[in-house]
Amino acid sequence: MTSTTPSSAEPRDLIADTEAVVLVGGKGTRLRPLTISAPKPMLPTAGLPFLTHLLSRIRAAGIRRVVLGTSFKAEVFEEHFGDGSDLDLELTYVVETEPLGTGGGIRNVLDELTASTIMVFNGDVLGGTDLTRILDLHHAKSADLTMHLVRVSDPRAFGCVPTDDDGRVLEFLEKTQDPPTDQINAGCYVFRRDLIAQIPEGVPVSVERETFPQLLAEGKRVFGFVDSAYWRDMGTPEDFVRGSADLVRGIAPSPALHGHAGESLVHEGAGIGAGAVLVGGTVVGRGAEIGAGARLDGAVVFDGARIEAGATVERSIIGFGARIGHRALIRDGVIGDGADIGARCELLRGARVWPGVVIPDGGIRYSTDM
Ligand code: GDD
Ligand code: MG
Repeated sequence: MTSTTPSSAEPRDLIADTEAVVLVGGKGTRLRPLTISAPKPMLPTAGLPFLTHLLSRIRAAGIRRVVLGTSFKAEVFEEHFGDGSDLDLELTYVVETEPLGTGGGIRNVLDELTASTIMVFNGDVLGGTDLTRILDLHHAKSADLTMHLVRVSDPRAFGCVPTDDDGRVLEFLEKTQDPPTDQINAGCYVFRRDLIAQIPEGVPVSVERETFPQLLAEGKRVFGFVDSAYWRDMGTPEDFVRGSADLVRGIAPSPALHGHAGESLVHEGAGIGAGAVLVGGTVVGRGAEIGAGARLDGAVVFDGARIEAGATVERSIIGFGARIGHRALIRDGVIGDGADIGARCELLRGARVWPGVVIPDGGIRYSTDM
């Protein structure tokens, strides 16, 4: 190895002294019933567990050591990712037996952290931001804490974060009905490690409702990094469907997908009948069967599901092994694992069918013509 003597820390040294924490302990209630069997970050998106996209992005930024803060269905993560070597990561896991919230979850992994700079991620965000730019800003500002911020049309479902002209964070307002700006918390933070040590240990803490307002009240140097790269929280069915389609079409970047882009993505062992139409970023999982003349537009079809001839699936998620009968219509719906939707049924506008539920032929309709 060649040795250099930099006068100040080189970017590479900064990255080497950076570790990541990914919070994956939430229950994913807004994605029920899919999250009854799998935690939200493990749901297949463009054929990979969602978390694979985020972990690959962390690795692509040069970070190698990642700690997963788990709680709900904790064992599933380690079973799939193991020591992380498949992704060229060093992965460790810390389980909260009772969920400790976002702040408690960060505090709970402190013993696993050795670097002085810690990047923390919400485990359900699909994004295209260059993470090294957030780190660079953090160091350039000698910040205590730097947050990634994005602009959205409706900030009320997020943490609203106004900043001053220098990018310094003025307030942190979690899910306020009266947001003063459209700038929101994108769910990625750079912490100085010693700040994490100040979070109370072993008790539930919300980083958004407690830690951030407290750090601001103490006058800590908290900065926002704002950009307009792709960003989406995958926590609702609408966003999950959109994010998945954006990955398939190459609108959302993922280092894990190696540049795939097209109207649809069909996995091995899937069968596609004659005249079936697959558009809008549709994904067909392993071993799934799509009948002749079926039309799938922005559909997310999990492994082993069956869409019968002439059925239509638009902007909907079809769970593992579910069946959609002949000429049925599913639009903006979520069909649980193993559910059985009879021929000619219509399920629209946010309908959710629980796992294993059987709906007989023509059993639910929005129109009277059969
Ligand atoms: N370890 C652990 N323990 N993780 C948790 C816990 C917990 O008790 N509770 C939630 N998480 C994880 C979730 O798994 C998820 O990855 C992340 O923390 C954020 O939780 P969400 O439930 O998805 O929060 P949100 O989407 O309503 O709001 C958050 O994200 C927005 C951006 O996507 C907040 O951070 C908002 O301020 C932010 O704007
Ligand atoms: Mg979320």
